[in-house]
Amino acid sequence: MTPIDPAARANVHLVDHPLVQHKLTLMRNKEASTNSFRRLLNEISTLMAYEVFRDMPMQEVQIETPLETMTAKVIDGKKLVFASILRAGNGILDGVLSVVPGARVGHIGLYRDPQTLKAVEYYYKMPKNMEERDVVVVDPMLATGNSASAAVTRLKQSNPKSIKFLCLLTCPEGINTLYREHPDVPVFTAAIDRELSDHGYILPGLGDAGDRIFGTQ
Ligand code: URA
Repeated sequence: MTPIDPAARANVHLVDHPLVQHKLTLMRNKEASTNSFRRLLNEISTLMAYEVFRDMPMQEVQIETPLETMTAKVIDGKKLVFASILRAGNGILDGVLSVVPGARVGHIGLYRDPQTLKAVEYYYKMPKNMEERDVVVVDPMLATGNSASAAVTRLKQSNPKSIKFLCLLTCPEGINTLYREHPDVPVFTAAIDRELSDHGYILPGLGDAGDRIFGTQ
């Protein structure tokens, strides 16, 4: 088993709230239907968003309550981008958008070249003016860390203000790889599983997240 680099582990926020853990257990069960898997992922994403946005910058605005004028805080959702790694990342979007509905959404498509095993980009579409925006990359499974790392490398070319990585499950290999390439990117996850299989699956894991979200098994 691969040990986790302590510095990399310190960069991981484990969201161990009982509501999240309960729903994750239901999702791991191979008997969960496509419908319930998708609904649970949606619910967990909403709950995890609370942790991801804990340090979100706020602005002050003047408002009128029924009684008087006050200065109150608001977030500027339009400055936020959710960058979904296709296709499983899309399973997280509805949940996080229900919390920050004004956020922009980008997509990154990557496939693994069978010869070189490197991530190759086939699709990339982000909002304009990325240098003004904070980005949350979303993908349910941080497994080898190769596509996560390639996605972050690509996003950094547009110079966003910050990048965070939100997943549901990860493992020592994924944490170490992403940290080695991008130590400035914090990871938010609901679980750190035991290991990566020889076929690139997280163990014990939950199987292929894309297939389970979209019912394509
Ligand atoms: N991607 C998945 O969907 N599942 C894994 O276990 C690893 C990568």
